[in-house]
Amino acid sequence: MNFSIKKICCIGAGYVGGPTMAVLAEKCENIQINVVDNNPERIKFWNSDDLKNLPIYEPGLESIIAKCRGKNLHFSTDVENNIKDADMIFISVNTPTKKGGIGAGQASDLTFVEAAARLIAKHGQKHTIVVEKSTLPIRTADTIKQILTSANQKYPNSATFDILSNPEFLAEGNAINDLNNPDRILIGGESEDAITSLKNIYLNWVHENKIITTNLWSSELSKLAANAFLAQRVSSINSLSALCEASGADISEVKKAIGTDSRIGNKFISPGPGFGGSCFKKDILNLVYLCNFYGLREVAEYWGKVLEINTWQKQRITEIIFQKLFGTITCKNIAIFGFSFKSNTNDTRESPAIEICHQLINEGANLKIYDPRVSIKQLEKDLGLNTKHDKELGPSNGSWKFTTDSYKAAEGTDAIVILTEWEEFKHLDWKSISTNMRSPSWVFDTRSIINFKEAKSNGINIWIMGRG
Ligand code: NAD
Ligand code: UGA
Repeated sequence: MNFSIKKICCIGAGYVGGPTMAVLAEKCENIQINVVDNNPERIKFWNSDDLKNLPIYEPGLESIIAKCRGKNLHFSTDVENNIKDADMIFISVNTPTKKGGIGAGQASDLTFVEAAARLIAKHGQKHTIVVEKSTLPIRTADTIKQILTSANQKYPNSATFDILSNPEFLAEGNAINDLNNPDRILIGGESEDAITSLKNIYLNWVHENKIITTNLWSSELSKLAANAFLAQRVSSINSLSALCEASGADISEVKKAIGTDSRIGNKFISPGPGFGGSCFKKDILNLVYLCNFYGLREVAEYWGKVLEINTWQKQRITEIIFQKLFGTITCKNIAIFGFSFKSNTNDTRESPAIEICHQLINEGANLKIYDPRVSIKQLEKDLGLNTKHDKELGPSNGSWKFTTDSYKAAEGTDAIVILTEWEEFKHLDWKSISTNMRSPSWVFDTRSIINFKEAKSNGINIWIMGRG
């Protein structure tokens, strides 16, 4: 028996829940979709009249919200009633790394997932397909199943449940494209009927041969494995960028040479300041935890190295800046171009900029930070209040300041550090920038994006990742 899906509820209106449900609503006009969140502030922004105030920036998202919101896409804090009504519920809550207790610093904190499962257990009224959208450790579906099954005994309703794993592979900044044209849709589950119900939804816009079905545990692990492989490529190219600088090779040439091998491919081998984003680090930590849990110490150590290189890359950049600026940056002015963890997003979670800025401030530098999408409020959260002594971060010699454009940020600085590959940084007017910088002036381009010739011809010293 296929269950006909008329109402979907998504618990969690974040970077995944919001865009994923928006695209689903656009593709499936006959399904009513309610995205719920227990953070009223977030829901308020999803419902704001001015689409510029949506809680996340994602190219292409505004027009879908304009088209579907209020028709078949709704954002609300009413978790209870929307669970009651739903034929299918997506769990898209956050799964951060545990901060304390057993597995602290490695294992995923499943508090929010468990809370969502308990809400479904309590308020579910009929047969409901529960879909894991969040990234979860292997066998989490077991936990959810136990919570839901025990609810049948406790609550006097006739709810029954099927559980599916349907991990999300979207990359921020490209989420709408990724959701419209996914490389694959992965569905893990035990019930053929439930799998078919979810598959039928995706078939509205995804070709059948892109839909992969597996058992629950393979699906859960495949998500962690995909992120680990991607992160490993970034750490691999970053490790070689250091070797290039030391040996006189050029990472852009090496990248081209290896990327033309069809087995390696040219995607995801751009050197940079290290990978950021909310997931790579937490998912690899989780993988390491799982490997240790199953007694696979060598496997855990192997993946742990991907993270070590990532941390080292950030420290390496700070040290290079320090050395090039004559071994002291105390009281020097440094402009930071780009703070988000990648371009086309306002997300700063685990952004390499956070650690690099902290390190520079601790060395006494005065930073002027510019990012086209990151707000001063966010910088305050990430760097602490802009005082020389922040309550949480302790005393520091340096400082930071928010600026609203790159030219203002560069004024009076000794150096510019490019940390995010925003398009506008590719087209900077180096003549105008160089006249307002202190001499000798430096540009540290960790993303290899600037117009090298123009910057050089205006008397700026340049350091480029992997070229030295
Ligand atoms: P997020 O923090 O942006 O959003 C999660 C939302 O869930 C928050 O708004 C929070 O208030 C809400 N929430 C938590 N517990 C709740 C509850 N009990 N009831 C109602 N709402 C609740 O997180 P995200 O970036 O959207 O990530 C969600 C999951 O998707 C994570 O497991 C992540 O690993 C995975 N993922 C993220 C991305 C990405 O690009 N960000 C991509 C693929 C997968
Ligand atoms: C990543 C994956 O690409 C998604 O498939 C996955 O769904 C998501 O994580 C998740 O689970 O959260 P995301 O973190 O949004 O997506 O962005 P990516 O494009 O993967 O970039 C991650 C980091 O790697 C960024 O800091 C980026 O600058 C860096 N990167 C990426 C490089 O330094 N070089 C590259 O060649 C590619």
